[in-house]
Amino acid sequence: MSAKAAQLRTLLNSQEMCVIMEAHNGLSARLVEEAGFQAIWASGLAISCSLGVRDCNEASWTQVLEVLEFMEDATDLPILLDGDTGYGNFNNVRRLVKKLSWRGSAGVCLEDKVFPKKNSFANGQPEDLVDVNEFAGKIRAAKDSQRDDNFVVVARTEAYIVGRGTDEAIDRASRYAEAGADAILVHSKRSDSNEIEAFMARWNGCAPIIVVPTTYSHVPLRQFSVLGISNVIFANHAIRTVAHALEKNLRLLRTTLDLSVLEGKVATVEELFRLQNMFELEAAEKRYLPGKAI
Ligand code: SPV
Ligand code: MG
Repeated sequence: MSAKAAQLRTLLNSQEMCVIMEAHNGLSARLVEEAGFQAIWASGLAISCSLGVRDCNEASWTQVLEVLEFMEDATDLPILLDGDTGYGNFNNVRRLVKKLSWRGSAGVCLEDKVFPKKNSFANGQPEDLVDVNEFAGKIRAAKDSQRDDNFVVVARTEAYIVGRGTDEAIDRASRYAEAGADAILVHSKRSDSNEIEAFMARWNGCAPIIVVPTTYSHVPLRQFSVLGISNVIFANHAIRTVAHALEKNLRLLRTTLDLSVLEGKVATVEELFRLQNMFELEAAEKRYLPGKAI
């Protein structure tokens, strides 16, 4: 049984507000834990961006799982993997979920778009949703494939993202919950929380709701609590912090060609060693290489 899956399941079902913070590699996963968050969102946008590709399934699912493995090694927090559409049909979902639950991962979030997907905020050709029955089948396939009772499957509806409205969002969320989803993620790209409020006014509460307030970031968490939502994903602010700081510091270095300008603006090498747990290796050398230890 995976302790991380049990932890994530407990967090999602609790009435206490849980913020699931984005990370995209081992380092950011460790830093999210040190900052005091309780769970991690392994964001497709952030992982693909950190790999230098687009959030359009350009990174293969095994490449994503490789990143996830480094993240899982680096933290004790439960990680909810952004599994996009499940990388294919129900059969691909079965293999994904088997792999994840064999490995002791906490859970996966699957969305009802068509593979290959595009990020929900991307412009260009509008995307469509898969048929509701087909996606409910994917959720059933996911639940039937997990090797750990606590493994969490989150069903995400993009009904609002593609402009289908509240009737469809409620219908899809209900069908996915009936199919066995442990929680429902309702995504919206509005700059206010109107769609989320309209959804919650009609939601029967049969599964916990998760929201991603990237575009309505001014809405305070207590407002979600009032609506009956206790799970929020901060979906991309770690990768955006990294991109922002890197851009600034690299520009400064390029213009000054003077390393000293970054003193105090970057982590020390000692801090990197601490984050990599080099001290553990020193202790292990004393134990396992006694003749050579300094
Ligand atoms: C992600 O972080 O990859 C997400 C959330 O799926 S969003 O970018 O809002 O689609
Ligand atoms: Mg994503």
